[in-house]
Amino acid sequence: MPTVPEIMARERDGPPITMLTAYDKSIAEIADAAGIDIVLVGDSVGNTVLGYETTLPVTIEEMISHTAAVVRGVKEALVVTDLPFLSVGVDESVSIMNAGRMLKIGGADAVKIESGPHTISITRRLVDLGIPVMAHVGLVPQRIRQIGGYYQQGADESSALEIMELAKEHENAGAFAIVLEHMPADIAKNITEQLEIPTIGIGAGSHTRGQVLVVDDVIGLSNSLPPFARKFGDVRTEMSNAIKKYREEVISRKFPPEDMD
Ligand code: KIV
Repeated sequence: MPTVPEIMARERDGPPITMLTAYDKSIAEIADAAGIDIVLVGDSVGNTVLGYETTLPVTIEEMISHTAAVVRGVKEALVVTDLPFLSVGVDESVSIMNAGRMLKIGGADAVKIESGPHTISITRRLVDLGIPVMAHVGLVPQRIRQIGGYYQQGADESSALEIMELAKEHENAGAFAIVLEHMPADIAKNITEQLEIPTIGIGAGSHTRGQVLVVDDVIGLSNSLPPFARKFGDVRTEMSNAIKKYREEVISRKFPPEDMD
């Protein structure tokens, strides 16, 4: 069972860390049994399960509920959960309470925070209090209204430097790992080489120490994929076929058969 210290101690030249999102018990159980190291209850639950246009409306209560469901499905993996928009970084004691509820009520092992200059001191404080924090830099979807679209970050020198600085500051504040989202591969490689903590990439090339994707994209449940994701199955077609078959058999009175009476 990977713990936070075990994730931090992963050898650089060992197998990459595998991280995948899950939002409910069944998918968490499948991901865990498949050997995924870290199950992330992403606030992408807002886009995937809850059908919001962005992650901004996701609440702490929704995250706690999905986290608890995921925890009930996981036996081995580390469960990390996202702190949603404005639940962290506004007020220190509220941030601590929100992060604490993820561990105390949700049962998560750690929280992930979409990082900015405003999350450095709260990362340090949470770590001091015994709450492991995963940082997240590059494309941070909770800033969608500010950046205007899900664009690659760090493409010019000054924004690459800004991301690098932010990553280092969060490592110094005690983050145990960091997600690098949607940035040029050479920037992610440079950050990975300069940090001691593991980097986990999504749309950040092949040089990070782990990879993460949204499970709906991986299994083929999503209607559309970001440019850096890959579909490894076609669950949407499978589900649609099963549901059509069920409907047809009810209409034609094949289901339930008389021998089930
Ligand atoms: O919310 C999420 O699913 C995430 C991952 C894409 C890293 O933050």
